Amino acid sequence: MASPVPRIFVLTGAGISAESGLGTFRDRGGLWARFDPMRLATPEAFAADPDTVLDFYNWRRRNALAAEPNPAHRALARAQARAAEAGGHLFLCTQNVDDLHERGGAGAVVHMHGELLKARCTGCGHAFGRRDDILRAQPCPHCARTGTLRPDIVWFGEMPMHLEAIDAALTRADLFVSIGTSGSVYPAAGYAAQARTLGIRTCELNLEPSDNAGLFDETRYGPASEVVPAFFAGYGLG
Ligand code: APR
Repeated sequence: MASPVPRIFVLTGAGISAESGLGTFRDRGGLWARFDPMRLATPEAFAADPDTVLDFYNWRRRNALAAEPNPAHRALARAQARAAEAGGHLFLCTQNVDDLHERGGAGAVVHMHGELLKARCTGCGHAFGRRDDILRAQPCPHCARTGTLRPDIVWFGEMPMHLEAIDAALTRADLFVSIGTSGSVYPAAGYAAQARTLGIRTCELNLEPSDNAGLFDETRYGPASEVVPAFFAGYGLG
């Protein structure tokens, strides 16, 4: 059994939430196979038809709240706690906008594509927790403007969040673990190559080889609920 690796950078994608019943984006029958992201997940789409975009994210928010964390979320939360106990650190960076990592027991979670359970005012920039539907008629709780609320989600063409913290954590890591992502959206898709350039060991845990599969020192394929607990147990972080 390998000794616990002190500093781990974990990147997760939609695949870790697939067994919780939340769709992925690019698998057969995935979200972007059923809906056009250019009409639902861009600032231009929101400007052109805000109610349709709000409805889409209200529907996704309700789905996320109805979902439960799966063994992969819980194993990752345990690994994060064990790494801290061992004097190390597990930096959990997710592309996902659901709160299943948090509900699975994770401590710090960095949502680089934003969060379904937050809204943001385009008038004053105030972001706040939101579990109910976002409707255009609702006033901003901070500036009282109406017609200015949007999901606090990063749309295509927008800058992802927390990039400085992500970069700092990646450069300090000893191990890079990619879980449940196709490796097709940048900048997240570039993190495995960046880790390799830095001499960091890279591992891919996925249902099947991703677009970046050739970049990984170690790969394990299968459902996240099986592969993730086994992987971290192997590092003494189970
Ligand atoms: N266990 C592990 N991996 C799985 C499972 C599972 N049960 N089911 C699917 N996968 C894998 C798929 O093989 C695929 O490689 O999860 C990956 C999901 O890929 P995508 O659907 O492209 O999702 P993701 O990589 O998270 O997309 C990145 O694209 O549209 C944007 O903002 C959106 O954050 C998203 C980003």
